[in-house]
Amino acid sequence: MASTTPNRKLLAWVEHWASVMKPADIHWCDGTKDEYDMMTSQLVELGTLIPLNDDIRPGSFLSRSDPADVARVEDRTFICSEREADAGTNNNWRAPAEIRSQMLELYDGCMQGRTMYVVPFSMGPLGSPIAHIGVQLTDSAYVAASMRIMTRMGQDALDVLGDGDFVPCVHSVGAPLTDGNADVPWPCDGENKYIVHFPETKDIWSYGSGYGGNALLGKKCFALRIASTMARDQGWLAEHMLIVSVTPPNGERKYVAAAFPSACGKTNMAMMIPTLPGWKIETVGDDIAWMKFGEDGQLYAINPEAGFFGVAPGTGEDTNPNALATLTHDCVFTNVAQTEDGDIWWEGLTDDPPARLTDWTGETWTPESDKPAAHPNARFTVSAAQCPSIAPEWEDPVGVPISAILFGGRRATTVPLVTEATSWEHGVFLGSVMSSEKTAAAAGAIGEVRRDPFAMLPFCGYNFGDYFQHWLNIGSAKGAKLPKLFYVNWFRKGDDGKFMWPGFGDNARVLKWVLERVNGGGKAVDTPIGKVPALDALDVSGLHLDDAVIQELLKVDRSEWAREVSLIEEHYAQIGDSVPVELVAQLESLASELQSNV
Ligand code: GTP
Ligand code: SPV
Ligand code: MN
Repeated sequence: MASTTPNRKLLAWVEHWASVMKPADIHWCDGTKDEYDMMTSQLVELGTLIPLNDDIRPGSFLSRSDPADVARVEDRTFICSEREADAGTNNNWRAPAEIRSQMLELYDGCMQGRTMYVVPFSMGPLGSPIAHIGVQLTDSAYVAASMRIMTRMGQDALDVLGDGDFVPCVHSVGAPLTDGNADVPWPCDGENKYIVHFPETKDIWSYGSGYGGNALLGKKCFALRIASTMARDQGWLAEHMLIVSVTPPNGERKYVAAAFPSACGKTNMAMMIPTLPGWKIETVGDDIAWMKFGEDGQLYAINPEAGFFGVAPGTGEDTNPNALATLTHDCVFTNVAQTEDGDIWWEGLTDDPPARLTDWTGETWTPESDKPAAHPNARFTVSAAQCPSIAPEWEDPVGVPISAILFGGRRATTVPLVTEATSWEHGVFLGSVMSSEKTAAAAGAIGEVRRDPFAMLPFCGYNFGDYFQHWLNIGSAKGAKLPKLFYVNWFRKGDDGKFMWPGFGDNARVLKWVLERVNGGGKAVDTPIGKVPALDALDVSGLHLDDAVIQELLKVDRSEWAREVSLIEEHYAQIGDSVPVELVAQLESLASELQSNV
């Protein structure tokens, strides 16, 4: 397909990169279903996609990645601002000129024998004043097809772009087909991955990986790392947050956003079916929120994405039935297991595993196997429009007004089920000290507790000190009607090592208290870290939880928090002098609060 754009900058950029990467062919994506079908049939022929049983799961595919390419690679992700200090200690940094010349060597001829897809896309509803256009070059049809699910991709995005500016995104799997080399189902360069962002010139260079956030550049690279720098400059927020509409029995709908680190429950909360009778939750977004002030001073959020790239393991009828209902047709599964009748399976999909499976590496698997059948970071890619709980207003270009923002992580100890910040500043403090156990969403050790401020550690495109200051500035914007801020933790464990809180649909009980607080009600007690629900304030009807368990869930243990304070001091010291004085003052007052009235 030839280009249909008058945009000279875009045409010249495509021509330039074609001369560098030397593809055999160039295909401008129009975003049609025919084109998607063409790309997926090519991928089936190559073995990248395996069609699933059409009677069980029509229009769907399984893909098995190279075992060396299964998750985001944080140690290969770089923020390349001119000054190292602007990237901060929270990012890997290289001098832009240096990394560009290094990567140009890799890019030289890297698309030989392959088609270069030109993928225009809109992050946000087409034409929305909050949306932005990007164009990705890629030599992976799997990536181009996935971008059609995850973004508004194709000619419509080009039409909106017209002669305007776009975020240029260069991507190659780094596996040229030279000397008649045969292709493989999942080409990549396992040894040489680079996920590189240039915040000043607002462009993205990615090389060597075909997986998720490394390769679908509209998502974490653009909508978080680059967009966070745009947001800082322009007075808005680009955050790693789900967005839900919550309707209590009285019909007074409110919108809530929540920042949880990767694989810590965003998609689950976004699609939650509340266990409280008469309550309803609808999905606006499950991973990223862009929030801007409206004329009325409220923060309005849009979901810049058009699809879900969700964690498969743990997704079951009892935990996230809406996700399963979304996945009945037209989806792509990556690194899940396959059943004998040509369907998919993963740990947690059913209580009992099938007697025999093909695991994510293509090997035979039985329940006796000592490895999981699906990779822990196995994912589904599916259009958001297919989700039964999708909110009717999810594509409203204006966005939805946010009443409360939750920050949360995965902590077995110390952090109570829910805490309300006493002020915006205090809430920014709580966001800045968030911590979580590492999950399989990124390569590396799992379970280790790390500070993950605002769930943005892997995704903030500039230094955390300035980012915290930006959050404080948002709070002092003139005429701002700010959401209330809360810190939650669904993952506290008892002495038996089991989660104390049932989680999932029962998290609606926490949302009920949150909305009561937003509306000026809900009983709360003061603790050194903020307001927690009074013992009888949380609606636990029908849960049969012992009072002692509820007490434990809401407990703020002074000695645990004293230890936490010294960890937070280390965390702030690591970020350095740019930590705003207001937050240092918050930390000092927490420390002295913990020392008094013991
Ligand atoms: P990313 O897509 O990586 O950003 O992850 P996410 O934040 O969307 O996490 P997701 O909702 O996919 O959940 C990840 C894992 O956490 C799954 O295995 C879930 O079953 C589990 N999980 C989600 N919510 C809860 C909860 O309330 N309680 C418990 N115990 N586990 C949960
Ligand atoms: C995450 O890790 O937060 C994800 C998956 O949502 S990825 O798109 O790979 O970043
Ligand atoms: Mn998710």
